[in-house]
Amino acid sequence: MRVIASKEEMRRACREAARPLGLVPTMGALHQGHLSLVDRARADCASVAVSIFVNPTQFAEGEDFAEYPRDLELDLEMLRQRGVDLVFVPDVAEVYPPGFHTWVDVGPIADRLEGAARPGHFRGVATVVAKLFGVVQPERAYFGQKDGQQTVVVRKLARDLDMGIEVVVLPTVREADGLAMSSRNVRLNPEQRQAAAVVYRALSAGLGIWYGGETDATAIVSTAQLQLDSEPLVRSVDYVSLADPETLEELALASPGGMLSVAAHLGSVRLIDNVILE
Ligand code: PAJ
Repeated sequence: MRVIASKEEMRRACREAARPLGLVPTMGALHQGHLSLVDRARADCASVAVSIFVNPTQFAEGEDFAEYPRDLELDLEMLRQRGVDLVFVPDVAEVYPPGFHTWVDVGPIADRLEGAARPGHFRGVATVVAKLFGVVQPERAYFGQKDGQQTVVVRKLARDLDMGIEVVVLPTVREADGLAMSSRNVRLNPEQRQAAAVVYRALSAGLGIWYGGETDATAIVSTAQLQLDSEPLVRSVDYVSLADPETLEELALASPGGMLSVAAHLGSVRLIDNVILE
């Protein structure tokens, strides 16, 4: 496994790699959710590249960029065991050198849900993903459904900018109680960790009445909201949404493919999760 910090060296290594080449972009502090993407890329592709870069431009002022968990040695060990070929670990100056000025704006889908709660977030995500695609030039790139809106943004970016990269989206990996795995979960104290299962319970409750035949989006959203309200450790809820899977506009009438999503604060940790109405 080669660990590379320079863009030029990474570009060269990717050019020489066996094809197809699969890319898994991450911010590190790897867990089973990330590793499920790596395993799928390993199974699908002749070469696998993983990037580990905590991208400052997707964190707003006052967010947790400085506190974001980082453990490069452990990450590299896990990736070595998974048979990854190339790991890209640039520093901030390598990705955003002096004079960097070009940004990727994906339009209105970036302003809803996470974008409304975190202004500028998807401009940062879309820009760094476009840059990683540019350096690595993979045939395929792997993303988790856990970050539902991000998958919509990345698909649109790849399509709108004719990148010719297949975006593969894989299911959310969960803990036994349903909590979606996340690098930020380590910052929950034991009580908060236990309470955090309410997020998936809320989504499941909404999904349950949809399976029961309910198509009124307000009823589905209120059912999920009610569950969240029942947990005293939930400090605040940024949104409960049932949205169109392409435009991310709120639905009035639930329909297959709709994305039921939640963002809620537990202590200092902001949790997001979603399910798709099948
Ligand atoms: P990060 O949060 O590290 O996630 C990297 C990838 O792992 C994303 O595609 C994310 O959706 C996926 N992932 C995280 N938790 C998961 C889970 N429980 N199950 C399945 N997949 C999961 O997302 C980012 O980094 C960044 O925004 C990035 C795309 C790297 C751009 O900076």
